[in-house]
Amino acid sequence: MKINTTVILTAIILVLAAVLTGTMVFYKNQPPQERAETQLIEIEPMEPDSHVWGINFPNQFASLLKTKKNTADTAYGGSSMFSHLEKDPRQVILFTGYPFSVDYNDDRGHEWALVDVRSTKRVSDKTPGTCYSCKSSNNPKLWSEMGMAEFDKTKFSELGVQIDQAIGCANCHEAGTMRLIVTNPALEEALSAQGKDWKTFSRQEMRTVVCGNCHVEYYFKGDGKYLTFPWEKGSDVDSIYEYYTEEGFKDWEYPEALTPMLKAQHPEYETYTAGSTHYNAGVSCADCHMPYVRDGAKKYSMHDIHSPLLNPELACGQCHTNTDYVVSRVATIQDQVWNTKVATEDAIVDAINAIKAASADSAADATLLAEARELHRKAQFYWDFVSAENSMGFHNPEYTLRNLAMATDLARQAQMKASQSIGDPSILETGTYYSAVQP
Ligand code: HEC
Ligand code: HEC
Ligand code: HEC
Ligand code: HEC
Repeated sequence: MKINTTVILTAIILVLAAVLTGTMVFYKNQPPQERAETQLIEIEPMEPDSHVWGINFPNQFASLLKTKKNTADTAYGGSSMFSHLEKDPRQVILFTGYPFSVDYNDDRGHEWALVDVRSTKRVSDKTPGTCYSCKSSNNPKLWSEMGMAEFDKTKFSELGVQIDQAIGCANCHEAGTMRLIVTNPALEEALSAQGKDWKTFSRQEMRTVVCGNCHVEYYFKGDGKYLTFPWEKGSDVDSIYEYYTEEGFKDWEYPEALTPMLKAQHPEYETYTAGSTHYNAGVSCADCHMPYVRDGAKKYSMHDIHSPLLNPELACGQCHTNTDYVVSRVATIQDQVWNTKVATEDAIVDAINAIKAASADSAADATLLAEARELHRKAQFYWDFVSAENSMGFHNPEYTLRNLAMATDLARQAQMKASQSIGDPSILETGTYYSAVQP
């Protein structure tokens, strides 16, 4: 009898504990109260038109629209479309033979995404639909109707007929619940390749992951130009480079040097999550780029996403008491990164000129020259992982400077190998950038 009572009591305790845990997990995963506010209309799943969502959420909608009006610039970023090629003509040499040497402007607000992708000179008759992947709130619906493989295979010009919205609510939110979701199938696939399921992520984690729908490194895989994030081995630069090497992938071949090159694309997510101080402290992209603002008694997330340096009191002041100080730290970090980056570029240009000279010499040692090209390819990718990232190093200063140091070293090694391949020390000359820009 005694045993029975103990067993029953234990069972009751276990059941109660399970119910309590279940209830706690349930509440933990519920969206905050403010999102449950009465919605005036029912929004269809994946509704492409943000105006419709705006009926229920006028503050978020109105602030999203402001991204169309921003023009203010900062020392290295901001919202005008300044030309990176004019600001830094070395990049014309670094991207020779590739469309980025012709047209490469700075990013601006989300409302401009569609206009800008349609007007860049990098788009041609051969451009695949894949290029629309991070530009429009029509995508989630199109992906679910036609599948991503078909979307990517369709010609840019043909797919464009079905696309009339810039980035909007459907890119980040699930209609009805308004929770943050992964909408880009390529992100879902990249996470699951690493054994991760975003549906188990915390709300704070999603405030970063949702930006990873687009602010990432990617490439177009195979003939179907299938959008792929190269994260199978991990999303840090070393794993990504290793992945591309195994895939034997190249974006283009550098003219006269014949190096199989890679182009990096805006890896904000990868850079930030590679152990930055803020990421490790649990800070999210939205904390800095979408701070809470007030409309009377209501608090909402500012959807007017832009450089936090344009509103540091809101963006940084929620956590840092001395805003002027942290903003001055950003300036110090960015100047340091810019100067280091330019020195890396000079080293890569020297390597390019040396490899071109060696390639023109039919007596060159083929093995050494191939090694020089591999070093050139790697140097440029590590440099571009920093250069194409949009924070000029702020998102992760230590990591950024480490990658630039590696790139400079690899570029100088490339130059040395090229010199050895033809036994000509004269191509070890430095500072050839100035001669390279001469016609
Ligand atoms: C601790 C604050 C902070 C966090 C967290 C943060 N950023 Fe930033 N971000 C900045 C600052 C500061 C800049 C530099 C702005 C400038 O140079 O004007 C910046 C720049 C940018 C830019 C370029 C802005 C421009 O004006 O061109 C983009 C895009 C961006 N961040 C995206 C992200 C994404 C995506 C994440 C998360 C993966 C993220 N940021 C996390 C502070 C932050
Ligand atoms: C680029 C991604 C993105 C887009 C586009 C976007 N949101 Fe959000 N939204 C967020 C993030 C991040 C949060 C913060 C969520 C959280 O803290 O859980 C948020 C929060 C919200 C919330 C919760 C309340 C609040 O303000 O924090 C509502 C409601 C909302 N968004 C509505 C909209 C509407 C309506 C649109 C389209 C007009 C839209 N969002 C477009 C990312 C986005
Ligand atoms: C659906 C794809 C997509 C998502 C999701 C997305 N972005 Fe963007 N973002 C873009 C594109 C594309 C641009 C560049 C638009 C242009 O230049 O026309 C951009 C531009 C920006 C800029 C530069 C704005 C300026 O005025 O210079 C910032 C900052 C930024 N995004 C931050 C974020 C943050 C933070 C998140 C997550 C909360 C996020 N983005 C989510 C695609 C996206
Ligand atoms: C959500 C909170 C939060 C926000 C928002 C935030 N920070 Fe921080 N920041 C931290 C934490 C936590 C640390 C870690 C050091 C500490 O404990 O102060 C940190 C550290 C720093 C450091 C020192 C970095 C290092 O490597 O030691 C700088 C610089 C900085 N923040 C700048 C900024 C700027 C600029 C902004 C606004 C664009 C900003 N932070 C926004 C929480 C935040």
